[in-house]
Amino acid sequence: QVVRLEDYRPSDFLILQTRLTFRLAPDGATVRAELMFERRDGVEADTPLILDGDGLTLKRVELKGAGKMAYEASPDQLVLTGLPHEKHFQMLIETELDPDSNKALMGLYRSNGVYCTQCEPEGFRRITYFLDRPDILSTYHVRIEAPKATNPLLLSNGNRIANGTLDNSWHFAEWHDPHPKPSYLFALVAGDLGCLRDSFTTMSGREVELAIHVEHGKEKLGLYAMDALKRSMKWDEEEFGREYDLDIFNIVAVSDFNMGAMENKGLNIFNDKYVLADEATATDSDFANIEAIIAHEYFHNWTGNRITCRDWFQLCLKEGLTVYRDHEFCADQRSRGVKRISEVRALRALQFPEDQGPLAHPVRPRRYREINNFYTATIYEKGSEIVRMLRTILGAETFRAGMDLYFKRHDGQACTIEDFLKVFEDVSGRDLSQFSLWYNQSGTPNLALSESYAPGTLTLDIEQSISPTPAENHKRPMHIPLAFGLIGHDGKELDFLTAEGAVVENGLIHLQERHHRISLHGIKERPVLSLNRGFSAPVTLTIEQEPQDLIFLAGHDSDPFARWQAFHTLLSEALMAAYRLVLGGKQVEFQQDIVFLAGKIATDESLEPAYRALALTLPSETDIARDIGNDIDPDAIFNARNALAVQIAKANREAFSQTYAGLHDDAPFSPDADSAGRRALRNTMLGYLARLDDGLFLAQRHTKTATNMTDLIAGLGTLVHEYGATTQTQAALDDYAQRYATTPLALDKWFQVQATAPGPQALETISVLMKHPAFHIDNPNRVRALLGAFSTGNQTGFHRADGAAYAFFAQALLAIDKDNPQLSARLATAFRSWRALGPMRQEKARQALLVMVEASAVSVDLRDIVERTIG
Ligand code: ARG
Ligand code: ZN
Repeated sequence: QVVRLEDYRPSDFLILQTRLTFRLAPDGATVRAELMFERRDGVEADTPLILDGDGLTLKRVELKGAGKMAYEASPDQLVLTGLPHEKHFQMLIETELDPDSNKALMGLYRSNGVYCTQCEPEGFRRITYFLDRPDILSTYHVRIEAPKATNPLLLSNGNRIANGTLDNSWHFAEWHDPHPKPSYLFALVAGDLGCLRDSFTTMSGREVELAIHVEHGKEKLGLYAMDALKRSMKWDEEEFGREYDLDIFNIVAVSDFNMGAMENKGLNIFNDKYVLADEATATDSDFANIEAIIAHEYFHNWTGNRITCRDWFQLCLKEGLTVYRDHEFCADQRSRGVKRISEVRALRALQFPEDQGPLAHPVRPRRYREINNFYTATIYEKGSEIVRMLRTILGAETFRAGMDLYFKRHDGQACTIEDFLKVFEDVSGRDLSQFSLWYNQSGTPNLALSESYAPGTLTLDIEQSISPTPAENHKRPMHIPLAFGLIGHDGKELDFLTAEGAVVENGLIHLQERHHRISLHGIKERPVLSLNRGFSAPVTLTIEQEPQDLIFLAGHDSDPFARWQAFHTLLSEALMAAYRLVLGGKQVEFQQDIVFLAGKIATDESLEPAYRALALTLPSETDIARDIGNDIDPDAIFNARNALAVQIAKANREAFSQTYAGLHDDAPFSPDADSAGRRALRNTMLGYLARLDDGLFLAQRHTKTATNMTDLIAGLGTLVHEYGATTQTQAALDDYAQRYATTPLALDKWFQVQATAPGPQALETISVLMKHPAFHIDNPNRVRALLGAFSTGNQTGFHRADGAAYAFFAQALLAIDKDNPQLSARLATAFRSWRALGPMRQEKARQALLVMVEASAVSVDLRDIVERTIG
C-alpha cells in the first residue's frame, strides 16, 4: 500500500489529552489509554473514528460517561461508529502487550531486561490504538506500575509528578508532559539501571536536572556524553537562542536499538554505542559520534519536538535541519575544516550512491510504502546540505533571522517544508521557489565546466544536468550556489572587477540556468580556479584541470576542503588509470609528483594532523567504484588501490617513519580533537608502513603497546587485513576476544575487523563467525558489525565473483527479517549499486534479490527495498 503526499488531509478528530497507565507484569503488559477526542468543526457527527493499530490485542474499549457506540477491532485498526454528537468525548481503550517477545524493537520492548519504547515513526500504534500521525498533538499524562525490585526506575516524558508504593511490592510513578506532542515522541523506560547525574543552568537561570541512565557499573562511561550534552545545551542557547523547556532531561542507553538514538521529549533513548565511552573501549570516532548524536537528539527538542512534522513526507524538515545543526555544533567544537571534509566524505559514500541508484528519492519524497525505509542519507545528509546552501545564499545574519522567525511563528505546530522556506522568503524578500527544487527533485546535479583565459578575463562555461532517477525523467535547472576562488601564482587570492553571465557575489556564483557563460573581468594574471569551496553545493563536477593546477591547489588553497579535494582529485584520477592498467594485465606505475606530495603532506607541520590524516587516506574502494561508474570489477579496484598505497609507502618510508615516531604520545589519554587528530595521523602512517617489509613487526608492536582503543583497533585491523592468516594475527585476535569478552561494544569491533578483511575467503570467515556463541542475530549492533560491515565494507569479499556471498547474504537477511524487518531492510540496501557491477556479478546479485522477493512471508520493509532495488 502506497502513501502519497498529495493525499494528505487533516484528520477529522483530534486527541487533546492522552492518559496512559502501564502495568508492567512479568507475564505481559497492559496499557490503559484514556483519550479525550475532539471532532473538528465541520465534520459530520456520524463520521467514523478510525484508529491505527499494529498487531494489537484489544481487551476493552468503552466511552467514558453514559454514551454508547459500536466498534470493530482488528490487530491493525479500531473503527468506532455511532459516537456521541458532542464535540468532545472520552474513550477508554485497554490493550495487552508482550514486550519480551517484541524483537522488531518498535513499540514497547525489553532490551537486556529494561523496558523501553521506540515510537518513531509508527511504533506507538503497537502500544495502543491511536491517531498515530505526527499532526495529532496531545498532552500526555503517564502512570507506570511495575514490580519495584526489578524496575526501580520508572521514566516517561516531561516532569515527574507523583510516585509511591503499591501492593505486592509493586510501585508506580506518574509523569506529565506539558508540551503537546505527537505520539512518535512518546517514551517509557522501566528497569534497573545506574545513573550519572549533573545539572545545567539555562540562559534564563533555570536549573535543569540531567541524568544519563546506563547499566550498573557503567556510569563513568557516560561522562563524555554528559559533557557533550552540556556543551550542546549551551551552544543552542548561544547560536540559536534556544533554551531547554523542562525541569529534567533524561537519557537512557539500551543495547538493542535499530538506529542511533531517538529524541523523545525529555527522555532521549540511545543505542548504548552512542553513549558509553572510555579510552579502553571506544575509538576517537566513537567519541566524535557520541558528541554528534547527543547534540543531534538534544537539538531536536526545538527542531522536531517544539516544531514537528505535519506528515512523514516532511521528515527532512526536522532531520535535515537537525543534522545541519549538529554539523555546525561539531564544527565549532572541533576543527571546522576537518569536520567539513569528513561530512563530504560521508555524503559521497552514503548519499551519492543512493541518489545515483535505484533507491533515489527526493529529500522530500512524494510516495512511500514503508516510511521506515526513508530514514536515509538523502533525507538526513542531503537535507542538511540544503539548509547549509540556504545559509550560504542568504548569509549568516538573514539565515539566523529566518530561524528566529521559524521558531516564533511555528512553535507548537506540525509543519511542512513550505512553512520552513516561507520564513526565509519573508525575512529576505527573496523568491525561493527555484531553490525549493532541492527538496523535490532527486538525483545529484552535475556541473560540467570549462575555463579559458584571455589577458584580464576568465571565461567559464558551466552546464548543469541531472541524470534521470526512478519516476523522474525530466529535471529542471536548480539554484546552485557555487563558491569559488581565484588564486595567483604566489598563492594569494586574486580579485576581479566585474562579472557577467550570472550573479556573482561574495565568492559565490549563483547558477540558476541550465547553461551559463560567465566572464570575470579585470583579473591581474592567469588564476588557478578553486571550485565548490567548502563544498558549497552537493554536486559532482566535471572539469579538466591541469595536474599542475591541482598540485598547486593541493599545496596552496586557503579553503581546507578545496585543498583536500584537489589532492583527492589527483588520487582518484591516478586510481582510475591504474584500474584500467590492472584490468589490462599491465604493470601499474603512479606519477612521481603525487607520491612525492603525499610525503610532503605527511610532514607539513603547518597542517593539522587530522587534516593530514584525511588527505593521506586514499579514496575507498567504493569511492573508486563510484568514479569508475559502471562495469565494476572490485578485485581490480582493490589491486589498483593497493598498488598506490604500496608505492606511496615505499617512496616515503623515511618521512612516514619519522612522522609515525614523532607522534608517539605518553601523555594521559584525552578524547579532544587535537589528540584524536594526532592518533589518526599516526595510525594512517601505520597503514602505509605496514605494507613494507618489516610491516608485520610494526603492526604487532603497535597492537601490543596500544594504550587506547583507537590505536589497538588500528593495529589489530592492520594485522587482520594485511597479515590475515598468520599465527600472530590469530594470537592478537584471541587476546582481544578474551580481554573484551564481557564488553559487547568492544566485541562488536572484533567482529567488524574480521568481517572487513579483504579477499574471497571472507565469506567463510563470516559463516564461521555467525556461529560464534557471541553472535546474536537479534542484536542490531552485532548484526551490523558482522553482516553490515561485510556487505558495505568488504568489497572483494562481498562481491566475490562466484556470487556466493550474495546468496549467503540474502539467506541471512531473510532470517533477520523474521524478527526485525527494519534491520533486514536496512542491510539490504547494500545491493543498491548492483547495476554498476560487471555483467556476471550483476546476474548473481539479481538472483539473490529475486530469492528475497520470492521468499514466503517477507516483510513489507524488506520487500519494498528489494523491489525498488531490482527496479
Ligand atoms: N529521529 C531519530 C533521529 O534521527 C531516528 C529515529 C528513527 N527510527 C526508526 N525506527 N526509523 O534522531
Ligand atoms: Zn534526527
